[in-house]
Amino acid sequence: MNAILKVQNLKKIYGRGCDDCLGTNPPYSKDNKCPTCGSIIACTDVNFDVYPGEILGIVGESGSGKSTVLSCLYFNQQATDGKIFYRGIEGGEKDLFNLNAQTRRQLQNIHFGIVYQNPHLGLNFNVSGEGNVAERLLVAGKRNFNTIQNSVHSLLERVALSPSRYKDFPKYYSGGMQQRVQIAKALISNPELILLDEPTGGLDVSVQAKILDLIRSISRELKVAMIMVSHDMQVIRLLCKRIIVMKHGRVVESGLTDRVIDDPKEAYTQTLVHSTIQ
Ligand SMILES: Nc1ncnc2c1ncn2[C@@H]1O[C@H](COP(=O)(O)OP(=O)(O)O)[C@@H](O)[C@H]1O
Ligand SMILES: [Mg+2]
Ligand SMILES: [Zn+2]
Repeated sequence: MNAILKVQNLKKIYGRGCDDCLGTNPPYSKDNKCPTCGSIIACTDVNFDVYPGEILGIVGESGSGKSTVLSCLYFNQQATDGKIFYRGIEGGEKDLFNLNAQTRRQLQNIHFGIVYQNPHLGLNFNVSGEGNVAERLLVAGKRNFNTIQNSVHSLLERVALSPSRYKDFPKYYSGGMQQRVQIAKALISNPELILLDEPTGGLDVSVQAKILDLIRSISRELKVAMIMVSHDMQVIRLLCKRIIVMKHGRVVESGLTDRVIDDPKEAYTQTLVHSTIQ
């Protein structure tokens, strides 16, 4: 398996579903609602691979299903259907949706990292910045205090959090600092894959640029693969060589970012390109 991760026919229905939306060809609707039962078809027929060290972009308008895809990959949501294979577990032979709870936690705590737009989802606000990063090593089974502290501090230094702020609580951090700590927390276990869900969504443009720079240099330095979700084609263009474009829960286009931007096959993709680049 050359790819790190293979996602096959991923589907997520919010609600009970019915024969129509749970079947192989769920009905299409612009508001993502199954016309028969009213359940939300948040994503369906999503297929993609992630290769070592790459940053794969997922772009699409709000409500197109991007976060749902990441939530299913990180097991925050239970996928309705589909399979995922990951190279680091049983050589990529085992469907991750069939893992026992313990192995699933290992994936979340060690192999995969995640960074959310909303820092409240990614950080424990009752624990200091350094405590947040250390926590992930503790749940991964590390016990030696000095080793933990050294790794935490060197990573916080790498993400450029000033040492005088290590012991502060996340609520006292700026938005940019909160994202830096989330990134350090994701990285501390040496994951093979990091999932980023609009990590710069709520930030000022200048702060956003610095965080995007950090993400790009970390990806080059550490060769960690990433899936970057954004509604902003400019962000995606900066970081991702390859993208998939989602609309109403479906992948409508995929390929090299330059090709998709220069020669979008879908009118929808053209709109996304023009709404953010010009
Ligand atoms: N927990 C949830 N329960 C019900 N519907 C949801 C939930 N999360 C998302 N949705 C719906 O699923 C669709 C896709 O949402 P989402 O994955 O958040 O898209 P995006 O991240 O692209 O904005 C939307 O119609 C959204 O309202
Ligand atoms: Mg989202
Ligand atoms: Zn239905």
